[in-house]
Amino acid sequence: MLLAAGLIVAAYLAGSVPFSFLVARARGVDLRTVGSGNIGGANVWRSVGFGPFVVAAVLDMLKGMLPTLAARWLLPGQFVVIVLAGVAAVLGHTFPIFLRFKGGKAVATSGGVLLAIAPLLVPIGIAAWAVAFLITRISSVGSLTAAAVVIVAGTLFYLAGALPLPYAAFVWFSALFVVYLHRENIQRLRAGTENRFSRLR
Ligand code: G3P
Repeated sequence: MLLAAGLIVAAYLAGSVPFSFLVARARGVDLRTVGSGNIGGANVWRSVGFGPFVVAAVLDMLKGMLPTLAARWLLPGQFVVIVLAGVAAVLGHTFPIFLRFKGGKAVATSGGVLLAIAPLLVPIGIAAWAVAFLITRISSVGSLTAAAVVIVAGTLFYLAGALPLPYAAFVWFSALFVVYLHRENIQRLRAGTENRFSRLR
């Protein structure tokens, strides 16, 4: 019980480390004041460049993946605790204790948790993101498309018996949470004012 609680708290603290914000700040850019104002990978790419985006996205994934893997290794088979560690990492990213609880939209960190519990969904989600992004040049369209595709694929995996219910529940939670966190993007998309990448660098 104590170990489970410790893992969940540690996952929240790991998720709270705002890697995208830190990577941009190392280049002298405060993500909160440029581009979309979001402290996520897309805004690093938009405001700093592609290389820093890759670094930030990988770090934001790792902070979801490693605490969830640690829970898997230390409490094997305890699916609910493992999923709660993943949820805690995602909530840490979105409500970071180190950044006055104003965090990002949880795409990369949710992907990192999925790497630990349902790794096949990650290339499916990345492929969906890439296709939608390359067509539209809009990162939020990529993320929303990936969320929709991952919900469908995760549900099919669950129905086929390839995912236990708590892992499927994480898929549903994280994908719907990502959509909810993109509500301002959705408003901009409806208004035709969403940020578009005019060139990729
Ligand atoms: O991962 C966040 C992305 O989907 C949207 O980011 O900066 O365009 O709001 P942004």
